[in-house]
Amino acid sequence: MANASGIYEKMMMTMMLLAFQCLVSEAFLPRMIRGRPTGGMLRGPIMRNYFNNDTVENELWFIQKLDHFTPSDRRTWKQRYFINTAFYKPGGPIFLMIGGEGEADPIWMTHGDWIENAKKYNAFCIQVEHRYYGKSHPTPDMSTENLRYLSSMQALADLANFRKFITNQYGFTNNKWISFGGSYPGSLSAWFRLKYPHLVDGAVASSAPVYSVLNFKDYLNVVTSALNVAGGPQCNKKINEAILKLNELLLTDIGRSKIQKMFNLCDPLDATNTLDVANLFSILSGNFEGVVQYNKDNRKFEGAVGTNITTDTLCDIMLNDTVHSPIERYAKINQMMLTTYRQDCLDFKYESMIKDFRNINWNATSAEGGRQWLYQTCTEFGYFQSSDSDTQPFGHKFPVDFSVQICMDVFGKKFNVSFIKQGIEWTNSNYGGLKLSESKIVLPNGSIDPWHALGVLKSLSNDTVAIFINGTAHCANMYPSTPDDNPNLTLARKQISQLIGKWCCS
Ligand SMILES: *[C@@H]1O[C@H](CO)[C@@H](O)[C@H](O)[C@H]1NC(C)=O
Ligand SMILES: *[C@@H]1O[C@H](CO)[C@@H](O)[C@H](O)[C@H]1NC(C)=O
Ligand SMILES: *[C@@H]1O[C@H](CO)[C@@H](O)[C@H](O)[C@H]1NC(C)=O
Ligand SMILES: *[C@@H]1O[C@H](CO)[C@@H](O)[C@H](O)[C@H]1NC(C)=O
Ligand SMILES: *[C@@H]1O[C@H](CO)[C@@H](O)[C@H](O)[C@H]1NC(C)=O
Ligand SMILES: *[C@@H]1O[C@H](CO)[C@@H](O)[C@H](O)[C@H]1NC(C)=O
Ligand SMILES: *[C@@H]1O[C@H](CO)[C@@H](O)[C@H](O)[C@H]1NC(C)=O
Repeated sequence: MANASGIYEKMMMTMMLLAFQCLVSEAFLPRMIRGRPTGGMLRGPIMRNYFNNDTVENELWFIQKLDHFTPSDRRTWKQRYFINTAFYKPGGPIFLMIGGEGEADPIWMTHGDWIENAKKYNAFCIQVEHRYYGKSHPTPDMSTENLRYLSSMQALADLANFRKFITNQYGFTNNKWISFGGSYPGSLSAWFRLKYPHLVDGAVASSAPVYSVLNFKDYLNVVTSALNVAGGPQCNKKINEAILKLNELLLTDIGRSKIQKMFNLCDPLDATNTLDVANLFSILSGNFEGVVQYNKDNRKFEGAVGTNITTDTLCDIMLNDTVHSPIERYAKINQMMLTTYRQDCLDFKYESMIKDFRNINWNATSAEGGRQWLYQTCTEFGYFQSSDSDTQPFGHKFPVDFSVQICMDVFGKKFNVSFIKQGIEWTNSNYGGLKLSESKIVLPNGSIDPWHALGVLKSLSNDTVAIFINGTAHCANMYPSTPDDNPNLTLARKQISQLIGKWCCS
């Protein structure tokens, strides 16, 4: 396992930065063992080996423009997409699943709630991979210079161009188009409708953080309330007691070696290295963040790596009196995560994380999305999950400055706080943030999904509909339904389906 060192820490960091992907690659399990599950702990709707070589159309490629906003630039690249024609009947709608910050997973071509709707409405299904992710490589490498063509606006223009191509290719005339996406692609789905209303007739934007913000301190607040639901206020209280003890141990040599031992750190902890300390604290809270965000989303597939760990598991451990102190319980959760991800020790070194993010080769682990998504957060969205809120128990050792520092250390000094703020302000000006001024968009959100804090607050009109799902996490409505689904989720799926029907097929 030459690769193992640092992998867990990179994974946790990546989780913090790109923590919200809904559609990840089929290669979930092997990738997990190699250690870096893109997009935190979420997976496709079903494990690859769960069904036997189900029919998925082969990958297809489209010649795409590199820079849509410089007409004289004629350079092109190959963008990957998948189609499924099995449900299509002439005149039916075109369903477009928008890819996001990770490899496009062909499993979605046959599974998920959108497929149920495709069957119902006889839709032609297409999934397009986002530029710079997966196998869609617009440039020879991911140098900071080359990443300048990575932006949500370029991605939307890709979709517009792609739509024209598909329309010609298949001779579609008056067919309606409906776009789908969850998380960042959820925002893209809403924005595709916003920017190109003549090209798409309706949009499903699941768990879409349409509002960009530098300091996303509410994230940990939602984590806190989810833990509150699972284990009551005592669960958070015990976490805080563990943190207070950690802070105390940080102050002495003896204390620091205790931390190293208890949390199974790969290297000694140097308290004067605040970036290492920040990284350690953020990894430890990341243990909770990932679990909350995807809590029970995939419970049908329990037994897959990590998926049986829920908020209940975490609070059961934090409240278990037979383990005598809260810090030991906090450490126990850490060990459970290390074991789950097959790590020998916890690599918390800031430098090793930065080194990984600096790798510009497509074949590096960062090709799985870490570097690219970091770039998008540093230039467009922020969303930095800081410890700056006073109402969460995880301590205050990873303030928003820590994330800004990462942007600068990875991409250069230019990527400082004012640069990042300008990018975020432009994103909100360009798309309108929470004032989504376009109709026929449905925005489901889940009550325990931390990202809902950046979602649309209430229905903006009869046809710009927010659907709130009490009791579910990130993108829950996108997964295939199961008999033991939360009834609120079942109802939400029904409402979404009715809206799709109204927009595509009435
Ligand atoms: C999760 O599943 C694994 C493998 O089946 C098992 O070893 C582990 O104890 C389970 N963890 C929890 C918290 O149930
Ligand atoms: C509490 O922890 C002990 C020791 O690890 C374990 O044997 C026991 O099953 C735990 N109890 C609960 C309720 O999780
Ligand atoms: C990755 O790509 C770089 C640049 O193309 C090359 O030098 C390197 O050998 C490759 N590494 C692996 C493991 O394939
Ligand atoms: C929205 O729907 C309600 C109830 O169906 C209706 O009374 C109202 O007039 C509609 N508003 C608009 C702007 O269409
Ligand atoms: C989610 O949508 C519902 C509308 O159904 C709204 O009441 C709620 O405030 C929304 N929550 C967030 C945080 O966006
Ligand atoms: C979800 O339902 C619970 C139980 O009825 C309720 O206490 C809570 O306020 C609801 N949450 C939201 C965010 O509406
Ligand atoms: C469904 O929503 C209702 C009302 O918002 C809430 O009381 C209930 O707890 C939710 N169900 C689940 C399983 O979360």
